[in-house]
Amino acid sequence: MAIRFEEIPSPCYVLDEAALRINLEILRLVREAAGVEIICALKGFAFWHAFPMLAGYLDGATASSLNEARLIAEEMGVEAHTYCPVYEEESFDTLLMYSKHLTFNSLSQYQRFFPRVRQSGKAVSMGLRINPEYSEVETDLYNPALPDSRLGMTREQCGASLPEGIEGLHFHALCENGSDVLERTLQAVEAKFGDWIRQVRWVNMGGGHWITQDGYDVERLVRILKNFRQRYPNLESVILEPGEAVGLHTGYLVSTVCDVLPRKDFHIAMLDVSFACHMPDCIEMPYKPVILGARDPKPGDRFVYRMGGNSCLAGDYMGMGDYAFDEPLEIGEKVIFDDMIHYTMVKTTFFNGVRHPSIAVWTERDELEMLRTFDYEDYKRKLS
Ligand SMILES: Cc1ncc(COP(=O)(O)O)c(C=O)c1O
Repeated sequence: MAIRFEEIPSPCYVLDEAALRINLEILRLVREAAGVEIICALKGFAFWHAFPMLAGYLDGATASSLNEARLIAEEMGVEAHTYCPVYEEESFDTLLMYSKHLTFNSLSQYQRFFPRVRQSGKAVSMGLRINPEYSEVETDLYNPALPDSRLGMTREQCGASLPEGIEGLHFHALCENGSDVLERTLQAVEAKFGDWIRQVRWVNMGGGHWITQDGYDVERLVRILKNFRQRYPNLESVILEPGEAVGLHTGYLVSTVCDVLPRKDFHIAMLDVSFACHMPDCIEMPYKPVILGARDPKPGDRFVYRMGGNSCLAGDYMGMGDYAFDEPLEIGEKVIFDDMIHYTMVKTTFFNGVRHPSIAVWTERDELEMLRTFDYEDYKRKLS
């Protein structure tokens, strides 16, 4: 089933439902084979139109804010596994109502909010985020286990005994990693926190498991998880909370060439989308996204283009490399960025007031369903 891009108005994010189902099948396979729970991290994938589909494959979702927890309740119909770096006085009780697990980032947050949980009478299982001080993440921006990290507690910061009422441990120290990295990270976690793991009911291994990426060693993951569960028979649940692995390779950002600027050795294709506003990870990570029908330039290529965004930010262009095409790019022609579903819509801004791409799905019935378009009122309502 091939998406008919000519039917998709630009600019537009388009989720390929069939591709999402393939990811979900893989995740379900891991869940069942390893006997673990897999929940979706909304920070990476909050495409809520697809939540009913997710519900058939996953065990729920994880929230990092009140808004995410409410979205999970409203659109997935389940209570969230919640972890926020800080909880706030005013919103805590509401957040509690939406949550089944609640993880604290520090002992002071635990001390401050634990009594509120007890008083509420709500059945919430409480956990602590631990920092194993081990991570193979290469980009510092995405490495929660750097020295003096503000995310989670090292064993030294934790104190000797497990605080009263704590039933779970949560670590997140991976980013786009293979199961070999999980294996080594687990060794560090167990070396530091093994005695506590024996005392709790659940362990949440965070996200960053690149399970649906080509070449990911799923069998090894299943083996690691099964062995872990055997080592700690006290655990009632082992949880993974990927975001990227849910949305990986499930869709596109469709854009259009609005202008072509000649430069000495190449041209700049000015698009109706912005790297800064609509594909921010390309600048933050940074990385060079795939464009359908384009390749990396080689000497002698005639039609070489640099992709330029439509905001005034000087750095709003693809600085990680240009693109070669077989034919010249024309004004009005579509440029389709691959793999633009996870960590895009959740991070977009209205900077410069540039038009926000619409949101659509290419359904399993092989047709376009437009879900959302944005207008001036959306821009204005965000400001005051
Ligand atoms: C605590 C936590 N859990 C889960 C995730 C999801 O990670 P990923 O989308 O890389 O799987 C993140 C990402 O930052 C996170 O911080």
